[in-house]
Amino acid sequence: MNPSIFQKRRSELMEMMESGIAIIPAAPEQPRNGDVLYRYRPDSDFYYLSHFPEPEAVLVLIPGREQGEFIMFCREKDATREQWDGRRAGLEGAISDYQADDSFPIDDIDDILPGLLENREKVYCGLGRHPEFDNRLLHWMTEIKSRAKSGVSGPGELIDFSHILHEMRLVKRAEERKIMRQAGRISAKAHRRAMQVCAPGMYEYQIEAELEYEFRRGGSQYPAYPSIVAGGVNGCILHYTENRDKLTDGDLLLIDAGAELDCYASDITRTFPVNGKFTPPQKAVYEIVLAAQHAAIDACVVGNHWDDPHQAAIDVLCDGLLELGLCEGTKAQLLEAGTYRRFYMHRTGHWLGMDVHDVGDYKFEDQWRLLEAGMVLTVEPGLYIPADEDIDAQYHNIGIRIEDDILITPKGPEVLSSEVPKTVTDIEELMQG
Ligand code: GLY
Ligand code: MN
Ligand code: MN
Repeated sequence: MNPSIFQKRRSELMEMMESGIAIIPAAPEQPRNGDVLYRYRPDSDFYYLSHFPEPEAVLVLIPGREQGEFIMFCREKDATREQWDGRRAGLEGAISDYQADDSFPIDDIDDILPGLLENREKVYCGLGRHPEFDNRLLHWMTEIKSRAKSGVSGPGELIDFSHILHEMRLVKRAEERKIMRQAGRISAKAHRRAMQVCAPGMYEYQIEAELEYEFRRGGSQYPAYPSIVAGGVNGCILHYTENRDKLTDGDLLLIDAGAELDCYASDITRTFPVNGKFTPPQKAVYEIVLAAQHAAIDACVVGNHWDDPHQAAIDVLCDGLLELGLCEGTKAQLLEAGTYRRFYMHRTGHWLGMDVHDVGDYKFEDQWRLLEAGMVLTVEPGLYIPADEDIDAQYHNIGIRIEDDILITPKGPEVLSSEVPKTVTDIEELMQG
């Protein structure tokens, strides 16, 4: 992305900060075992404002500071460490490549940061995200207060800026929409590949490998979340990630997997027959979930509220559950008593962006918020049918979810994940082709 985009985001945030100072740390590295760390993934808020990909860094914004408003604390260049662990931007790089006005060694932050708090009234930070860092921040604030007798005044207010920043992140700008479209394309290709290679006798992890091969090949840095590759009854476990069972002829395979590209997630689910051909009961349940998904996507329009797609989906699912004889009574009774939740126990979607369950409020006070152009959400209805005695055996252990990523536009919903087939005919054609 063009550096001016990050500059614009910082300016926008600073305009809302008055006489404050914002302090935002990079995510700490996470040990995996022994001398091994998990692959590093920047904190989304930090990256949204800085584009800086390294750990051990702190971004400071001080609106109106004469010597420069954007200060970066980061690691210094170090030939030995760089030979072992990889390149660093260093203090010069923070300025030349990331547009910091000033940069300081991260090791000096305890000496320098209290001074930057002088005469600022408010500190803005993302309270609770990195508790250890919050403690250090309180320590710096206490330190500056202890200098009161020498005429120095420190901030009296600590403000959680998450709300302001997350409202910015919720509405995706043109450059973000472009990346999210590309993430959708990469993930769609991976799902198509999974459909094409799938066959009875393969293992779930082998399909996972095919998906993630396509993610990485497409330039994705990581899966946006642990891939769910769930054959048969495993499809009824919402977050099944063991991915170790053998795929059985006659079962369905539910795949919930999405690539992350430049810190933007995609999140796609498809459910298809392991052998390429739906059985009549599988098809009957599938058509209901698909109709619910279409109804929910149709409700993703500017001016509708957040809950409208969910209501549209459960309306269709309830009709279907009654039709199949899985529920009894009237639709009004199912909706009123919530009995459909035995088969559909999650909501129809969530915001999608830098985090797979992205930031942004869903309600204002007690009201669902309205959908606006630029918001991205998932639409992911499902039905999960347990093998209980009172349930017609032909539907036992069928787990189906269909999930797409939807950009709200003034012209209606844009499906970012449209390149994976989802009708019964299209899926069967691709698998048998
Ligand atoms: N893949 C996680 C979700 O669909 O919410
Ligand atoms: Mn999702
Ligand atoms: Mn998902």
